[in-house]
Formats: sequence, C-alpha cells, structure tokens
Amino acid sequence: VSAPSAPTGREPTLKTVRLVVSGLGNIGRRYLDILIGKAGLLRARYGLVFHVVGAADSRGAAFDPAGLDLAEIVRLKKAGRSAADYPRGYTPSGRGRAGLPPLALIEQLDADVLCESTPVSLDDGEPGLSCMRAAMRKGMHVVTPNKGPLVLAYRELTALAQQQGVRLLFCGTVAGGLPAINLGQRDMAGATIERLEALPNLTTSYILDQMTRGLPYAEALAAAQAQGCAEADPSLDVEGWDAANKLVILANSVLGMPATLGDVAVEGITGLTLADLETAKANGRTIKLVASAVRREDGSYTLRVGPVGLPAEHPLARLGGQQMGIVYHTDIYGTISAAILEEEPTPSSATMLRDLLTIYAAP
Ligand SMILES: NC(=O)c1ccc[n+]([C@@H]2O[C@H](COP(=O)([O-])OP(=O)(O)OC[C@H]3O[C@@H](n4cnc5c(N)ncnc54)[C@H](OP(=O)(O)O)[C@@H]3O)[C@@H](O)[C@H]2O)c1
Repeated sequence: VSAPSAPTGREPTLKTVRLVVSGLGNIGRRYLDILIGKAGLLRARYGLVFHVVGAADSRGAAFDPAGLDLAEIVRLKKAGRSAADYPRGYTPSGRGRAGLPPLALIEQLDADVLCESTPVSLDDGEPGLSCMRAAMRKGMHVVTPNKGPLVLAYRELTALAQQQGVRLLFCGTVAGGLPAINLGQRDMAGATIERLEALPNLTTSYILDQMTRGLPYAEALAAAQAQGCAEADPSLDVEGWDAANKLVILANSVLGMPATLGDVAVEGITGLTLADLETAKANGRTIKLVASAVRREDGSYTLRVGPVGLPAEHPLARLGGQQMGIVYHTDIYGTISAAILEEEPTPSSATMLRDLLTIYAAP
C-alpha cells in the first residue's frame, strides 16, 4: 500500500463553464451574488469556474465572451437599471445593448448553460419557453426555477433535452429552496410513492398562519402583501393555482404521471373564515393549503389542492408562515418529510447553483 501523496498546494484542473443568465430580478440578481460569493469555493472544491457571458433583463442585455463583471451587473440592477447599461469596454470585450432579448443572446453567444429566471407565464410560457427550446437545440443545458414552461410543455421539453443529450433541471420550481424534486427523483429510488403531501406555496402558508393568530382573511392577505410575500394580484396563490402548478411538476418529474393542470382538483383558501380555523383548532387540527397526490390502483395518482385540517402530529401541521414542506409516503423507505424556512429569496436563487452542480459536480 503506497503512502498518500503529500498535498502539492496546486489547484485541481479547472473547468470553465459559460453561462447565459436570463432574468435579473429577485432571483436572477441574487443568483449572480451567489456566483460572486461562492467563486472561491467552487474553484477549490469542484475545480469549476463559471463565466457569465450574457445577462438579459426586460430592457436589454450585456455580453462578453470572456465573462462579464458580475459585480457591475448586480450594481446596475440594484440601482434599478438594465444590464443593457453595462459600460462598453468595462471588461475586455464587454458591452450592453438596449432591446437585445434573451433569445437573441442565446442564439448569438457560445455558452454551455442557460440559467432562466424570467417571470412565470401560464398563458404561453414566454419568454422562458422559447429560450429553453433554443438553448437546448444549440446543445446547452438549462437550469430554471420558472414553472411556466415546465407546466405547459413538460413532455416536449424533457424529450428535447433527451434528444439533444443535455440536462434540463428545475429543482427551484416546486417549493423555493427545498430540494423536493431531487429528494423524490433521487432518494426514493426503487420505491413506490403511495402518497405525497406538500405545502409548496409561501403566500397561503403565511396568510393561514396569520389567520390562526386571529386576523381575518382580508387583513391577513394585506399583511402578506405588506410583507412582500403576496403579489398585488394574489389570485394565483390564494385560489390554489400556484400550488396546483407545482403539483403538476411533481407528478410529471417524480411520480412519472404525465399530468396537466386539468388533472388537478383545485380549491383555494378564499372561502375560509376565522370560524373554520377556530373550529379546526378546537379539534386539535391546523388548516393548511395542501397539494396531495394519492396513488390509485392503476398506478396513476389522484391530484388535489385544497385546505386540509391536519392533525397536530402531522409533519406539515407545525410548519410556520415562512416554511414550505413535503412528505413522501413510500412502500420501502417509510415516510420521509423535509421542510425549509425561507425568509427571503436567496434559497430559491441558489437552486440554480444546485442544478449546475448536479450537472458538473455530481459524485
Ligand atoms: N421570488 C421567489 O421567491 C421565487 C421562488 C421560486 C421561483 N421563482 C421563479 O423565478 C422566476 C423569477 O422570479 P423573480 O421573483 O426574480 O421575478 P422578478 O423579480 O419579477 O424578475 C424578473 C426578471 O425577468 C426580467 N424579464 C421580464 N420580462 C422579460 C423578458 N421578456 N425578457 C427578458 N427578461 C425579462 C425582468 O427584467 P427587469 O429587471 O428589466 O424588470 C427581471 O429582471 C419566476 O419564474 C418565479 O416564478 C421565484
């Protein structure tokens, strides 16, 4: 047996990965911050160097085949400006261009991965859907927390990824930073999932938590909006459709069921009163908006989103207003539950890094 060799002090062979980042809002901007803050660790631990060669928002884009200065992009975005304002020559061949859409950036640049975090559209999935298609057709991998394209075109996109020999990873689409999909896809290996239950929507968790403390629905919603965890138009969340979208992604990606929104029975929380919550409490139960999938005899699943009075001992019952969670009931691994406390969007932004490392640094 030979003695272990002494450390040489040399870095591992480095691999440079070129990224295009589309969407520089709450998620995309924090993602750039994470890439800046983690650069040393990624290099030392994995031998990886990530160069962002293109970055786009709704007003234009910046690009530099040698890699943009991310701190400058973050500075521009924090100042409410566009990546298009990236100063010419700030990095060797860097420049910004107003009106340049992410699709053109993908088509014009040589890059390895598209990191897509533009807003959700459930009408047509755009601009994310076209960008994902174009990137994969060019042989790029895609990482994204954007649900829209996955809900509308799951089968098409996963077939395209397979055909092109690239990865399409979306662990941030279901419950923020919680690795709900990874847990289901990887760690339930060989199991039959008899049932899953999830609290994948922060807005409704927050509102119900406030109602449990005695605030009527309208005041709890206003508190959620003041807190920044509900949109000005909260209907997607409070009527249950956001949770239903996430359930559709779980059904497709973890349960192997080619589900669409039409397969989900959806009920929101708008009809709940304080009296409902008090009655539940008196019976030792806590009402949560639960997304569930229950296995049928034919191997498909009954999909439902709606308010459920959970008994105190249920793993999801004790989750607070800023938590999301999932429970997998399986035949051979018992019941596995996981939860996240997500007080601001950094964990959701970090899911794109998790996906990148699944591609480039999986053991
Ligand atoms: N926020 C969360 O906690 C969270 C958690 C999980 C998943 N997600 C998902 O992550 C995605 C981004 O969310 P977010 O909160 O970061 O949204 P956001 O703050 O509204 O940011 C959206 C970004 O996309 C850009 N954009 C909008 N339309 C565009 C277009 N047509 N072409 C190019 N860029 C466009 C915006 O440009 P401007 O900067 O010019 O406005 C902005 O930079 C969404 O799909 C969301 O569902 C969010």
